[in-house]
Amino acid sequence: MFSLPKEVTIIEVGPRDGLQNESREVPTAAKIDFIKALQDAGIREMEITSFVSPKWVPQMKDAQEITEQAPAAGRQIVLTPNEKGVERALASGAKAVAVFVGVSDSFNKKNINKTTSESLEALTPLIRRLKTEGLFVRACISTAFYCPYEGKVDPENTLALCRQFADLGVDELSVADTIGMANPLESHGLFRDLKRQFPDTLIAAHFHDTRKMALANIFAALQAGVDRFDSSAGGLGGCPFAPGATGNVATEDVVGMLHRMDITTGIDENRLLEAVSVIEPYVASPVTTGMYTLYKNRNED
Ligand code: HMG
Ligand code: MG
Repeated sequence: MFSLPKEVTIIEVGPRDGLQNESREVPTAAKIDFIKALQDAGIREMEITSFVSPKWVPQMKDAQEITEQAPAAGRQIVLTPNEKGVERALASGAKAVAVFVGVSDSFNKKNINKTTSESLEALTPLIRRLKTEGLFVRACISTAFYCPYEGKVDPENTLALCRQFADLGVDELSVADTIGMANPLESHGLFRDLKRQFPDTLIAAHFHDTRKMALANIFAALQAGVDRFDSSAGGLGGCPFAPGATGNVATEDVVGMLHRMDITTGIDENRLLEAVSVIEPYVASPVTTGMYTLYKNRNED
């Protein structure tokens, strides 16, 4: 039979990956209400915002306010692309920082205006500094399976990049199917190798759901021993610099699947759906995920 973990940790990315792609400005107060509602549902690890250039991603311009105002409950992660981002994050009191880099140069250039090796070189002293100052550091590895510009990515290149971050002492590798093109065999193969090669580093899987294969990919990653998954309430999200990347896999659908397989998450499903209803009025498209649709129909009866 299947070999599955008994317990899974969800890293909620809705307030960051979910909202960064929304063209209409979401008020800071609504973002804070969303974060609080997610915490009330039992989410304990969350990407709450990103300290990126407001010229590149205007939606994240309130990163400082979000970091200062979000109630401290569990691990609140902020993304930073460069030294300026790290300085801003530290000044706002962040305790957990994510850096991000793509395996493929073309995506990395579009996303952070550097090649992959230029990014790694620039991030190396920043990661050392963050670790010296006692912060939790997560490395988000984009285009781990496919690149929107270069096509299929060789898993050996993904593993080699992960090795460089692991050697720098990051606490976690969040390995991403940025444009939702991976299939369950690819998911199982890469995550099996990651779990074998990096036994001392937390490994999280980050799936976008462009082709509706994210839940199948998660099931495959579970069997490879992964017990940490990034997901976004309401299935919101996408990267503005990755054409074709639609939303992240929806937290409510992941949690719903896990609970029905008797895998615990510590998350209250109803309160999670309430959190989706807090943000839905502020996003461009209605939320149509499976669990949320059932919830809305139930509440309308
Ligand atoms: P650049 O234009 O090369 O940067 O952009 P620069 O150093 O030349 O600076 C240009 C201007 O931006 C300057 O301002 C800087 O001060 C300012 P000006 O002098 O023109 O007034 N600036 C900043 N301001 C605030 N915070 C900063 C910052 N840095 C520079 N941190 C840069 C390079 C990295 C800044 C830009 O490319 C950028 O912000 N990119 C972020 C893109 C992004 O947010 N992408 C989405 C997140 S990643 C993702 O979603 C993938 C993930 O989910 C995993 C997956 O699914 O694959 C994690
Ligand atoms: Mg993403």
